[in-house]
Amino acid sequence: MNRHPALAVRFFFLATLMLTGLSATALRSFAQSAPGRSAAELMDAVMWNREPIGGPFALIDQMGTPRSEQDFKGKLLLVYFGFTYCPDICPTDLQAIGLAIDQLGAAGDKVQPLFITVDPERDTSAHLAGYVSLFHPRLIGLTGDAAAIRKAADAYKVYYAKVANEAGTDYTVDHSAFVYLMGADGQYLGFLPPGTTPERIAEAIRQRGLLKP
Ligand code: NI
Repeated sequence: MNRHPALAVRFFFLATLMLTGLSATALRSFAQSAPGRSAAELMDAVMWNREPIGGPFALIDQMGTPRSEQDFKGKLLLVYFGFTYCPDICPTDLQAIGLAIDQLGAAGDKVQPLFITVDPERDTSAHLAGYVSLFHPRLIGLTGDAAAIRKAADAYKVYYAKVANEAGTDYTVDHSAFVYLMGADGQYLGFLPPGTTPERIAEAIRQRGLLKP
């Protein structure tokens, strides 16, 4: 993963923390939504680069405009899956993405951040419009029907599952939260774990020489 032992330890700590959090609700999720692949299996696929990441999608942005991966050719993409009612990790990571792009200065114009909802039921285009603007003026929010969201999430090996509260009156969505870096031709370049700082995101982009003309 990387040569710096302290960073490696921190990475594994974060990954383990995420897996633990997800498995705590795994039994409840199982009963409530069509089970996709398990959180552990998908996390393994991403962490150890076992399966391809990314691919075509057909979704709708916060203005109601249909969008596909073809619309973003030539841009470096930061792709993040989550949902607007997420209390903690989604807003933190989206804020980090927005700040990282600003830190890149003019070069940041070549970076396109995408937020793909895993809660299309509540995250309509109109709802996304009010949300994405909180984090960055160029952040694009994407939604779609359940099948289109499932297809996009599967392509990125994203785990998500609806989990109802005890009373069955409300629900949350368990989900994996990686920041995916995709190149100008749509190729997968790597991921950053949840909780990555803006500085580290900006550095990861610069270090790879991704913004050279
Ligand atoms: Ni979240």
